[in-house]
Amino acid sequence: MTQTPVANASPALAPVADAPLLKLKVKILRFNPETDKKSQWVTYDIAAQGSDRVVDVLNEIKWYQESGLTFRRSCQHGICGSDAMLINGRNRLACKTLVRDVAKDGGTITVEPIRGLKVERDLLVDMEPFFDAYKAVMPYFIHESPFPAKEQYQSEADADKMKDSSNCILCACCTTSCPIFWVNGSYIGPAALVTAHRFIFDSRDEAKQQRLGVVNQNTGVWRCRTAYNCTEACPRGIPITQLIEEVKREVMFNQA
Ligand code: SF4
Ligand code: SF4
Ligand code: FES
Repeated sequence: MTQTPVANASPALAPVADAPLLKLKVKILRFNPETDKKSQWVTYDIAAQGSDRVVDVLNEIKWYQESGLTFRRSCQHGICGSDAMLINGRNRLACKTLVRDVAKDGGTITVEPIRGLKVERDLLVDMEPFFDAYKAVMPYFIHESPFPAKEQYQSEADADKMKDSSNCILCACCTTSCPIFWVNGSYIGPAALVTAHRFIFDSRDEAKQQRLGVVNQNTGVWRCRTAYNCTEACPRGIPITQLIEEVKREVMFNQA
């Protein structure tokens, strides 16, 4: 893989007045399915400010050094969930990770694809198994009885029950940090369980029993070993392990 360094400052890393530039080595685990048998580390030298984000650094490399570098990003503001990657060994969103939090001057930033999903190219993984698990829990509102003539009221207390699980942006940081998912890809994983929680605890939804049936299967909630990796990885601060425990309890109470 070739590097063509370009000396000029670029818009990917917009300068902040008087902020010092940090000299960084960015090590990226790259894979080209057309030419490589296995992934290999490639290092890029780059100068960035501490307030730049890792996504800015990757954009800089892609736009000015190595146009073939492949990774997902869209909103670049922590909303779309598309740029989850392993940065310095931890699942993070590249657009929410500041250079100063992962590297000092002369330091190295390592960037790898998230684990447990097939690498298509560089940092791009096949998200289909992740979204298959998401679809399995029926991630949509189900209400088959006639709607009331007036607004369907939901109390503040009931809305609070789904407050955390509604914050998910489907980035996959949790599922791809889960050791159970790594060894058994049939486990639907924490992200799907967070979505299941969101609808199971929605007082207006009418498919709670169906969803509990899905998460009660041997690919579901009982696979979780309460290891907390998922909670630590979530960029939205969702207490995932706690929500999974709430789903487990709901399955048990509804079996009694
Ligand atoms: S708490 Fe459960 S879902 Fe989360 S990482 Fe651990 S085993 Fe996986
Ligand atoms: S629960 Fe958190 S880590 Fe998991 S997919 Fe949703 S936002 Fe991402
Ligand atoms: S690019 Fe959308 S969350 Fe990072």
